[in-house]
Amino acid sequence: MSAPKIAVLVGSLRKDSVTRKVVRAIEPFAPGLSFTELELGHLPLYNQDLEVEPPPEAWAAFRAQLNESAGYLFATPEYNRSIPGGLKNAIDIASRPYGKSAFGAGRPGAVVSVSPGAMGGFGANHQVRQSVVSLDLVMLQRPEMYVNNALTLFDASGALVDEAAKRLFHNFGTAFTAWVQRHAR
Ligand code: FNR
Repeated sequence: MSAPKIAVLVGSLRKDSVTRKVVRAIEPFAPGLSFTELELGHLPLYNQDLEVEPPPEAWAAFRAQLNESAGYLFATPEYNRSIPGGLKNAIDIASRPYGKSAFGAGRPGAVVSVSPGAMGGFGANHQVRQSVVSLDLVMLQRPEMYVNNALTLFDASGALVDEAAKRLFHNFGTAFTAWVQRHAR
């Protein structure tokens, strides 16, 4: 069986995002899954008036990518104790039309929040959960992934060097793989 496809939604749009570095550092610890990062920055802002046939092309393509994925990984920085607007916009687009969420009901997901600060984006982490649980995603509970002091985890070449982070990412990769296998349809 081929590796289940995981759509990765990274809440940071910037090129040198530490959140994206964390996702890339996690990926080798989940060799049984196939990660694909989806582009979020070009999605037109959600506006219900645009919810007609055909909807904006970028929305349709994004929804199709989500629909064909076995599971979802949300990786987000925290903006003002919440999630960045681009990620919220993507979740809103995915969730509609009503009753036809592009996040397949009952599919597995996980959330990783990342911060250069001490709290690891706790607020953002739970805001992602709050939205996607209501969309019927089945979210991994543990290990909880509040990745704090994130700028200290990598060396100048971008390699993951922090031993505690390596153990955490290994545990997460193993748990998420098992979670996807358990819930994938
Ligand atoms: C931040 N940052 C931040 N960090 C945090 O831990 N809690 C917060 O509430 C906020 N708020 C916040 C608001 C805005 C508008 C910005 C631009 C930034 C700092 C943030 O964690 C930092 O910029 C990270 O580097 C962003 O993640 P990426 O882009 O490196 O992945």
